[in-house]
Amino acid sequence: MAVLQVLSVILVTAACFGESVANLNVSGIDFDSFRKKFHRLYEVNSEEFSRRQINFQNAAVRHLYLNSFSGQTQSATYGINQFSDLSQMEFKDVYLRAESSSAPGFVGSTRAGLPAKFDWRDKGVVAPVQNQLACGSCWAFSTVGAIQAVHAMGGSQLEQLSVQQVVDCSYKNEGCSGGSPSHALAWLKQTRVKLVSHSDYPYKAKTGMCHFFSPSHEGVTVRNFSLHSFSGQEEAMMGQLVQFGPLAAIVDAVSWQDYLGGIIQHHCSSQWSNHAVLVVGYDTTGEIPYWIVQNSWGTTWGDQGYVYVKIGTNICGIADSVAAVFL
Ligand SMILES: *[C@@H]1O[C@H](CO)[C@@H](O)[C@H](O)[C@H]1NC(C)=O
Ligand SMILES: *[C@@H]1O[C@H](CO)[C@@H](O)[C@H](O)[C@H]1NC(C)=O
Repeated sequence: MAVLQVLSVILVTAACFGESVANLNVSGIDFDSFRKKFHRLYEVNSEEFSRRQINFQNAAVRHLYLNSFSGQTQSATYGINQFSDLSQMEFKDVYLRAESSSAPGFVGSTRAGLPAKFDWRDKGVVAPVQNQLACGSCWAFSTVGAIQAVHAMGGSQLEQLSVQQVVDCSYKNEGCSGGSPSHALAWLKQTRVKLVSHSDYPYKAKTGMCHFFSPSHEGVTVRNFSLHSFSGQEEAMMGQLVQFGPLAAIVDAVSWQDYLGGIIQHHCSSQWSNHAVLVVGYDTTGEIPYWIVQNSWGTTWGDQGYVYVKIGTNICGIADSVAAVFL
């Protein structure tokens, strides 16, 4: 939210630039090229065209601001991507639908002898990046991502499990209108619902009726989960990741609308979480230690669908509410 406010101030300021804003071409990609690249079909001279063009110009102004912090090593960069013709409100309405949830602070010690870097993708337990499309189901992707990884860690073949089943059936959540990994996990634990495979219950990017399967149908049940805040204790969070597998986390992703790659070190508040993701690894070998985070906005977003977030100061609130899954 804080970022949104700052950005709004910038946008208002930008309105004073008048003519020059309309001609902004900072990212070297103009509106025509953008429309081609992302297959936008709105008609020239339509009301939608003008609206989208204004959003696009506003995005370019935001990028100037966001990139003005990018002097440091491995800083994140921001620019034109698939979300550049959405207003910040539209983006938030569709893509930032995770409910904020508070979690008790982690109490415990950090495991000694943690590796300097660790990535569950190297163990073959992380499924490819998915695309939630225009459905606020990030919370379901994050939850199912963690479950299918832990399932594969147990020696089973890596299999994509059904996100749609969680979207349709998890009654504590609101399908495409939003939800949280903690509610989804509580539901799975309480009901012992078997999570079936993606191919048995494919993703539709729409909330639908819950489909029930016979008790003999194959599926994965969640025995238990933990939910903690690791704010100020991100090393302990690294320990949990290594010990238990990829973690479902919620973050403030307002500035992610414009993210292209690099390590996020600014423009990302804690305490205003609105998006759910899957933390699959970390790397502390370079100057800036960072989390490796799988998002669910397809592979054209960010760094082939991934985003890197600096470790240590709870950037984006990544340590605020973190779930580990036990099968
Ligand atoms: C924007 O920049 C790109 C690359 O520098 C250039 O090819 C394009 O013609 C420019 N567009 C406009 C409208 O100035
Ligand atoms: C579930 O996990 C929590 C947190 O780790 C733990 O305190 C609790 O004892 C576990 N419950 C069961 C039934 O395993």
